[in-house]
Amino acid sequence: MRQVPVSYLVIGNGRLARHLRHYFSLLSIPFQSWHRGQSFSELQAKVAQASHILILISDDALQDFINEHLQDSKAFIIHCSGSRVCEGAYGVHPLMTFGQELYDLVAYQQIPLLIDHDAPELTALLPGLNNPHQHLHTSKKTQYHALCVLAGNFSCMLWQKLFTDFEQALNLPKELAHPYLKQQMQNLLTAPESALTGPVVRQDQKTIAKNLQALTDDPFQEVYESFVSCYQKNQTLEAKV
Ligand SMILES: NC(=O)c1ccc[n+]([C@@H]2O[C@H](COP(=O)([O-])OP(=O)(O)OC[C@H]3O[C@@H](n4cnc5c(N)ncnc54)[C@H](OP(=O)(O)O)[C@@H]3O)[C@@H](O)[C@H]2O)c1
Repeated sequence: MRQVPVSYLVIGNGRLARHLRHYFSLLSIPFQSWHRGQSFSELQAKVAQASHILILISDDALQDFINEHLQDSKAFIIHCSGSRVCEGAYGVHPLMTFGQELYDLVAYQQIPLLIDHDAPELTALLPGLNNPHQHLHTSKKTQYHALCVLAGNFSCMLWQKLFTDFEQALNLPKELAHPYLKQQMQNLLTAPESALTGPVVRQDQKTIAKNLQALTDDPFQEVYESFVSCYQKNQTLEAKV
């Protein structure tokens, strides 16, 4: 039998741990927390009392930490890596970005959770949370996570590049590009198939060549080239379907 009532332990002190502790506080869900600045005897005492342990540390440290510190626990052990499958823990990936700024309750409640296919239901895994959720087969996790990184993290790098170079190279305020960013996002949400425009779609070869020349000695020149090549390969693949 699992321990009743629910007693959460949040392990880690990074970005996601901070956000999750805040979410729990907004929902008035009590929790204990531990991070590696504290003693391991304190960890063992907290593990012994926990019914649900959220282990929110770097992906590379997850399996060793579980093996070394959580082997004997009867609690539900949950990690939040989108790509890893860990022995002795269930994966629940929040499909969201967690940076420095904390969010409000509504934002947290809307975050979709992707749960390992062989894990229990959300109500058992994370009692008190009622987020939208979906089970995903663990064999699909690396593909799922690669898509999230491509779309979320890499588009972020591109916008960061535009903001920085607007200000530093062109002496333009970065806010000038905000309507462009917002409309691009809106178009993607409302009509994703037709949201892509620009010289690559039009196949304006001279413009593409000038763009590439303007990026000489810039690491993003390679990114531009690979996107042109990717677009062409994708078009060929789609034509075959
Ligand atoms: N941030 C996001 O947007 C996001 C989104 C979805 C899922 N996730 C997942 O959430 C988890 C945590 O990511 P994060 O972004 O919060 O990472 P993070 O901000 O880099 O924090 C990582 C935390 O792990 C701790 N840590 C690293 N190795 C450890 C070890 N051997 N023993 C104990 N603690 C250790 C670090 O401790 P120190 O502070 O002492 O270095 C730090 O507190 C990961 O599984 C990640 O895939 C993150």
